[in-house]
Amino acid sequence: MRVTRCVCRGLSFATLLADARAGGLSLDQLVESTGCGTGCGLCLPYLLKALRTGEAEQGVLSAAEFDRLMAEYRGLTPRDTRASTG
Ligand code: FES
Repeated sequence: MRVTRCVCRGLSFATLLADARAGGLSLDQLVESTGCGTGCGLCLPYLLKALRTGEAEQGVLSAAEFDRLMAEYRGLTPRDTRASTG
């Protein structure tokens, strides 16, 4: 199974990644402008990973990886979560 979108808002990570890159948006700014991550919140660690790695399609995270990324997200400054341009 591949995780490819914010289900709650119906937006693909590919689209969100492109928007983040085009606008130089941090994850917080992306969340604010699209509403992604404000429903169930399960897409947040995937979005963080997508912004860092450029992977718009991801395998299901293990519980440990999910928790690590969520904890990291909560402790990050907006600058830390900007999309990689590489
Ligand atoms: S899947 Fe993104 S907020 Fe629920």
